[in-house]
Amino acid sequence: MSVTAPPTPSCALHSAGTCRSCPHLSRPLSDQLASKQSLVASLLAEHVPAGLWEPPAASAPERFRNKAKMAVAGTLARPTLGILDGAGHGIDLRTCPLHVPAIEATLPVLADLITALGVRPYDVPSRCGELKYVLVTASPDGDLMVRFVLRSRRHLERLRAALPGLQQALPQLAVASVNIQGVHQAVIEGPEEIILTEEERLLMRLSLPTPSASTSTVRCSEDVELPLYLPTRSFFQTNTAVAEALYATARAWAQELEPARVWDLFCGVGGFALALAAPGRRVLGVEVSASAIDGARDAAALMGLNPALVRFEAGDAHVLDPDAPGADVSGVCGAQSPDLLVVNPPRRGIGEQLAARIEASGVERMLYSSCNPRTLAADLARLPSMRAVRSRLFDMFPHTDHAEVLVELVRG
Ligand SMILES: C[S@@+](CC[C@H](N)C(=O)[O-])C[C@H]1O[C@@H](n2cnc3c(N)ncnc32)[C@H](O)[C@@H]1O
Repeated sequence: MSVTAPPTPSCALHSAGTCRSCPHLSRPLSDQLASKQSLVASLLAEHVPAGLWEPPAASAPERFRNKAKMAVAGTLARPTLGILDGAGHGIDLRTCPLHVPAIEATLPVLADLITALGVRPYDVPSRCGELKYVLVTASPDGDLMVRFVLRSRRHLERLRAALPGLQQALPQLAVASVNIQGVHQAVIEGPEEIILTEEERLLMRLSLPTPSASTSTVRCSEDVELPLYLPTRSFFQTNTAVAEALYATARAWAQELEPARVWDLFCGVGGFALALAAPGRRVLGVEVSASAIDGARDAAALMGLNPALVRFEAGDAHVLDPDAPGADVSGVCGAQSPDLLVVNPPRRGIGEQLAARIEASGVERMLYSSCNPRTLAADLARLPSMRAVRSRLFDMFPHTDHAEVLVELVRG
């Protein structure tokens, strides 16, 4: 039987060289995945022998991104939503084929709203204007979180007054907020967030495929539901279907190990911890963002998990020792090390300090989920007593060289 490869997405901005976010867009996804697999395998060759790789988890070629971070530029009458060129002028990416359909449908509504509101796009070259970004996230159910990044609070009330109209135009709008970023050309978001809606978090109802079907993006009735609460300023994996495959794989690997105690470090809103929860199992998630931890706790309650067994604590994940000053997690899992340690750090990896603590700990098994194979390789070199036993690539970021990798490690 011949299997037809999915067509490559068509994107005029890519063809014209105007947007360079997807360097491999015109190559078939199967070729991209094969190249990515061999690149990642060669970067990790010293630590992950070739025979340990499981088949990679593929993405859909388009309509997979659950979030859009759109710089707002142009004029009031004709705002652009997308990226800025080298001179700080806007390039409109409303038709980017990577966004899920709910986001694609939302962006023109937001462009019209900007014009109707009279809140001028921020112009980077002249440093004039107020609206810097719109940040849109869509849940698997099509519910929306829309955040407006403003330079100041000057037009806050105008946006608040426009909310009923926006809710009418976007019936699936669950969360709307304003973020204040007063600094010129700094990181996208500032520290102040003002929620406009009653809801403060977007419910992301994930569905974990059964292990044999974990590359599939089609949902079926035996899938395990994983409801996660996403607050406005927290991290969430960008490709929902591939994130589902990632959590499902971690869950399947953990089930084979049957650990009594699991720790999930850098747990965000609790994806790994909650996917790995099982009757009688003690699970601890640690994350620096207090609002992400609140979300993880509420998701655990929604799943009916026993709070005495499944715990989330805000803190520095580099402090592995539950009895260490500041860790404030004493007694959560007893003083014992976990049977299974999950780490999913930011791109910079776990670093020397945490690697040294893991080396010195009694941790026998680990799952390391990384979005940066280079820092993963450096961290694995810092864990000489841990040996890889299996690994898998997840194509979280198709059309780019970025890769998510899950490695299972055992001591000895
Ligand atoms: C790649 S994300 C992973 C989140 C989560 N595991 C998931 O699947 O969504 C990394 C997370 O580490 C958190 N983080 C960064 N530095 C940290 C630290 N020192 N201690 C604890 N968490 C930290 C970030 O806030 C972010 O949520």
